[in-house]
Amino acid sequence: MRVLLAGATGAIGLPLLSALAAAGHETIAIIRDPAKRRLVEERGALPVIADVMDRDGLLRAVDGHPADVVMHQATALRDASPRLRPDDPTLALRDKGTEQLLRAARLVGARRFVTQSLITGYGYRDHGDRILTEDDVFGLHVGNVGDLVADSSVATERQVFTADGIEGIALRYGMFYGRNAFSDMFADLMRKRAPVLPRGRTGTTCFIHVNDAAAAAVAAMEHGRAGQAYNIVDDQPTSWRDFLTTVARTHGTPRPVVTPRWLIRLAVPYLGCLMIDTTMRISHAKATRDLGWTPAYRNLREGLAAG
Ligand SMILES: NC(=O)c1ccc[n+]([C@@H]2O[C@H](COP(=O)([O-])OP(=O)(O)OC[C@H]3O[C@@H](n4cnc5c(N)ncnc54)[C@H](OP(=O)(O)O)[C@@H]3O)[C@@H](O)[C@H]2O)c1
Repeated sequence: MRVLLAGATGAIGLPLLSALAAAGHETIAIIRDPAKRRLVEERGALPVIADVMDRDGLLRAVDGHPADVVMHQATALRDASPRLRPDDPTLALRDKGTEQLLRAARLVGARRFVTQSLITGYGYRDHGDRILTEDDVFGLHVGNVGDLVADSSVATERQVFTADGIEGIALRYGMFYGRNAFSDMFADLMRKRAPVLPRGRTGTTCFIHVNDAAAAAVAAMEHGRAGQAYNIVDDQPTSWRDFLTTVARTHGTPRPVVTPRWLIRLAVPYLGCLMIDTTMRISHAKATRDLGWTPAYRNLREGLAAG
């Protein structure tokens, strides 16, 4: 298949380019920075230069590049404010960005659209021991800043599921770890001795290695059912305390600096509701059944130990 990919230079984008090439697909990679051409060319893709948020520029750039599938893997979490405001660029990429990429899909003749969604759409709260599946309520409002992220996940999913003439598929990813992902990001913070670990009990969430996330995207593109969402997580939920101590060990950084919970909530409210308030266990059984996908790494320790 010919794939038009947004987010090709990111933590998931780069392994995804390699996975697409290995599976025999041709990729047209939307990149913003011409200096990153080589990064995508080395992985077998054809770069086109455009910003997803610039509608006219995007349509001009992709015109003349027919594709079967569009994949939306663009986020801007590195530019997020710690307070997470409604004008956050990643929220816009999920809402307006999806709208623009759907226009691009129509222009290039793509009939399938795979979008990046997030497990936190199930709601930033303690879900207890219940194992969440795709049948659970998605986009749950719980009255904290995470509601903005849940809304944006719903926004991208709803658009691709309801677009005329398009087979929309959403991948509800766990937290990314691996090269350039959350694990590297937190390792950098721990090297700077930045306070990252809330005192006391932390929440538990589900992670996914970026290579496994990329493999799931290829499988979804090839075998996903139209109008369906798939949870893409590994087999064993991990607490944030375990995440940070495992990252410190595997990356050889100082141990995480413990911080009062109130300070985390005050200084970085989004991380507070993610790392303190949210506990979720998620099943990937549907992805395994429909897509024939299983994570190569059963848990974070295994994935980080593998390098
Ligand atoms: N599920 C999760 O846990 C999850 C989800 C997303 C991100 N993250 C994590 O958050 C951290 C930072 O993530 P990030 O969002 O900065 O990811 P990232 O790894 O930097 O990738 C973002 C990708 O989107 C592209 N992009 C952003 N805005 C764009 C626009 N307007 N038009 C076209 N392309 C655009 C970027 O292109 P450029 O190269 O031009 O910047 C890049 O290719 C990483 O650790 C990542 O793992 C986690």
